[in-house]
Amino acid sequence: MRGYEAAYRQSIEEPGEFWREAARAIDWDVPPASVAADGGWFAGGRLNTCHNAVDRHVAAGRGGQDALIHDSPVTGTVRRYTYDELLGQVAKTAGMLRELGVRPGDTVVIYMPMVPEAVFAMLACARIGAVHSVVFGGFAASELAVRIDHARPRVVLSASCGIEPSRTVAYKPLLDAALREASHRPARCVILQRPQCRAELTEGRDLDWEPAVAAAEPAGCVSVAATDPLYVLYTSGTTGMPKGVVRDNGGHAVALHWSMSHVYGAAPGEVYWAASDVGWVVGHSYIVYGPLLAGCTSVLYEGKPVGTPDPGAFWRVASAYGVRTLFTAPTAIRAIKKEDPSGDFAKKWDLSALRYLFLAGERLDPDTYHCAGDLLGIPVIDHWWQTETGWPVAANCVGIEELPIKPGSPTKPVPGYDVRILDEEGRECPPGVEGAVTVRLPLPPGCLPTLYRDDARFAESYLTRYPGHYLTGDGGYLDEDGYLYVMGRIDDVINVAGHRLSTGAMEEVVAAHPDVAECAVIGVADELKGELPVGFVVLKAGAARDPAEVERELVAMVRDRIGPVAAFRTAVVVARLPKTRSGKILRGTMRDIAAGRDYRVPSTIEDPAALTEIAEAVTGR
Ligand code: COA
Ligand code: AMP
Repeated sequence: MRGYEAAYRQSIEEPGEFWREAARAIDWDVPPASVAADGGWFAGGRLNTCHNAVDRHVAAGRGGQDALIHDSPVTGTVRRYTYDELLGQVAKTAGMLRELGVRPGDTVVIYMPMVPEAVFAMLACARIGAVHSVVFGGFAASELAVRIDHARPRVVLSASCGIEPSRTVAYKPLLDAALREASHRPARCVILQRPQCRAELTEGRDLDWEPAVAAAEPAGCVSVAATDPLYVLYTSGTTGMPKGVVRDNGGHAVALHWSMSHVYGAAPGEVYWAASDVGWVVGHSYIVYGPLLAGCTSVLYEGKPVGTPDPGAFWRVASAYGVRTLFTAPTAIRAIKKEDPSGDFAKKWDLSALRYLFLAGERLDPDTYHCAGDLLGIPVIDHWWQTETGWPVAANCVGIEELPIKPGSPTKPVPGYDVRILDEEGRECPPGVEGAVTVRLPLPPGCLPTLYRDDARFAESYLTRYPGHYLTGDGGYLDEDGYLYVMGRIDDVINVAGHRLSTGAMEEVVAAHPDVAECAVIGVADELKGELPVGFVVLKAGAARDPAEVERELVAMVRDRIGPVAAFRTAVVVARLPKTRSGKILRGTMRDIAAGRDYRVPSTIEDPAALTEIAEAVTGR
């Protein structure tokens, strides 16, 4: 097999050839005539993603193999589905959607916990050419409402509840509140009743999932254009309005299938486990589509790394199913280490099948890297990507060639991605010098072709800052050997426990408090979660309020409007915010202080004492 350098070079110099070859692994109803990024990857081709993820494995004799294992320590259950069974479930769910009037191109919002039905629902949409939009369960009703209004779903699929270790989260009241707040009205909501908490259904609008699916006629796969959307996944941008990242069918199927073998080194029949949530891109790509496109067994885990019931939870699951590839976020490893510093829980389980631990979602600090390696004794692979790209931009592509690891670096650009580090003026930075991480266009297959119903925002957010390049929003550098180092976001996005959140969105909520004159929310370094949001607020002149009381109200408001997942637990009332003389809040400098980086006091600052106050508040936490 070719080594990394040869594969990478070909992917950049002859992308058409490179991806034409990769596309052979996919079943096409109509093969694409020409392969180029112009006009959309694989334009002219037709296929069905669900067929490629499910039906074709059954046809090829893989029907008796487990496709999905739902392991749920929070309910004390395990459910296994072979490819045969998965096909049956997906076809019936697709039939139900079709009978509810869902047609190719229609959107379906899925607001569900980590249950197999969420996976059936995603694949069912793909099967009938509908576009799914999954909303993470930890978001509040208002966030769901914003997404419903933008996606305009014909049907919403939900469940009666999700189960967190400390409480049962009733989803139905959140859905009802979202639908009261939204102006769009879906024709139907279908609710999966879970025994832990049954929901009251709204007459005329809501249907009970089980009987509705049971009564449906199975639906077959509809052929769609390679460039038709498969899904929209909303992700945090710099404002309260999330960005609807669009994924197409053809490029996505080709890129994800290719990544399973070349990036992860995974083969058909192996057990692959991404310990994430279907509401995030990791869940879309590597719980659902990637492993199934590749004919692997995917583990769907409804639990946490700790507390369900102990820090051995991951090792129990890995051992029980012979997991070969485990993918999670560094924060999960830190959480396990905190509760099991000597690794005793890992020693209890037979982890001999485990070959690789892949980590992503936030920067992998060298301490966590070493800790994971010492604990498991297998290669720990940092890899970097984002919702927009849908699959890794930089990684140690173990399926091509295992390169030496440099802790702190996700290794080198993955074939297909021409990564360039640019300075303020758009010049390439020399090795070792930090700048904006960009990808020279064209982006490879699988990356977002646009933002849903917002081409202008797509161009403005990603393509205009550096013409000819895609702006990732991360800062970093390449070293002399071409290894990439991603140091953190250069915009108002933060990563809290591997969850991507917008400080801009939190600021909008905080600023709406009647006693707040102005505010800034920034990510502050946190040992466990990587970053935590902290709000600095200035009260309105004359607001005769107890600052501690306002701080509590602000915490409650963010939880209520954005959701518990924001983990916004600290608001600090300050006398003033650091600003330039022209009145611009110095967020960049505040971010540097919060991250413990060296910072320069800008010459344009109005009142340097304001920075000291922020620094004291950060260190005093
Ligand atoms: N539905 C409802 N609420 C949810 C939720 C969901 N799907 N997911 C999280 N929440 C809630 C939690 O219950 C918690 O609420 P609380 O404030 O009442 O305690 C809050 O949101 C924050 O949750 P979380 O970020 O998960 O923090 P935690 O303290 O419960 O757990 C970790 C910490 C590190 C164990 C956990 O964040 C984790 O497993 N992270 C890995 C993340 C990951 O896999 N990311 C995907 C990228 S690979
Ligand atoms: P998301 O879109 O939720 O996947 O979040 C993407 C963002 O998470 C990236 O833009 C980075 O800021 C961060 N991120 C993801 N993986 C890594 C990594 N391996 N190293 C550093 N940052 C990462």
